[in-house]
Amino acid sequence: MIVDGTLGGGGHSEALLEAGFRVVGVDRDPLALAAATARLARFGDSFRAVQGEFGDVASLVPGPVDGLVLDLGVSSPQLDTPARGFSFMHDGPLDMRMSGDGETAAELIARLPENELADVIYQYGEERFSRPIARALKARLPRTTFEAVEAVKQGMPRKAWPKDTHVATRTFQALRIAVNAELEQLERALASLPSWLGPKGVAAIISFHSLEDRLVKQTFKKWCGEQDDAPKGLPFARTTAPTFEALTKKPLVATDDETAQNPRARSAKLRAVRKLPGVVS
Ligand SMILES: C[S@@+](CC[C@H](N)C(=O)[O-])C[C@H]1O[C@@H](n2cnc3c(N)ncnc32)[C@H](O)[C@@H]1O
Repeated sequence: MIVDGTLGGGGHSEALLEAGFRVVGVDRDPLALAAATARLARFGDSFRAVQGEFGDVASLVPGPVDGLVLDLGVSSPQLDTPARGFSFMHDGPLDMRMSGDGETAAELIARLPENELADVIYQYGEERFSRPIARALKARLPRTTFEAVEAVKQGMPRKAWPKDTHVATRTFQALRIAVNAELEQLERALASLPSWLGPKGVAAIISFHSLEDRLVKQTFKKWCGEQDDAPKGLPFARTTAPTFEALTKKPLVATDDETAQNPRARSAKLRAVRKLPGVVS
């Protein structure tokens, strides 16, 4: 049985079901869960949907399981629905909650002191104008996505606006990661995997930005017994006995054809590992 921890529209689950696997789909977004459940109804008992966070996957779905698939980040329906407030391209309430519960992005901006908001924008958005942007956001206290975009523009000198991406890309990424505790979710899922996966269990994770990818890469390297910070040019020093083997030596990226069909795939990186036979936990 395979767990799809980011069920979304159900595309990955559908492919796994068509390949003959039983699948449990997990998503924190009740709208995604309802749509995917309808799409996958024809698979009957082979598919089950569970609402929850993949950080809790080991308690949501009792192990051992044969595999976990994670396709991180937001889905196209979330991004393209103005009322969800994820996109700087559409005007809507500054919400960004995948589950619909908890603090919205507007409330987060209002609650955090300016220096903490700047830290969030710097760490999760890798935005070098984090401090003036945080100042502009605190001065404006945006309630809508377009008000937030205006504040970002005010916080950044015109000549520093990026040429190939939207001026608010990094700030919106940071707010979304903070609102949904995305890195904590990934850390918790990774921490539970070694004992939850069964023998030869596979973990396959698609990430969309460097913060996620770094975490996945370093964790997988550790499990595979490789020291991530080995000096360049030297063979990897073995730190601990490997408990997993890498299935992707380098991350898999989308082909030109895939990117042409789905431009959002251009920054996707897939890494996968398999638990070694005979490893107990
Ligand atoms: C990129 S989409 C997945 C698309 C899916 N692979 C498909 O084929 O349609 C990501 C989905 O994961 C969900 N998600 C993101 N973080 C989550 C978390 N921590 N726990 C559960 N679901 C999460 C989002 O709500 C969204 O529906």
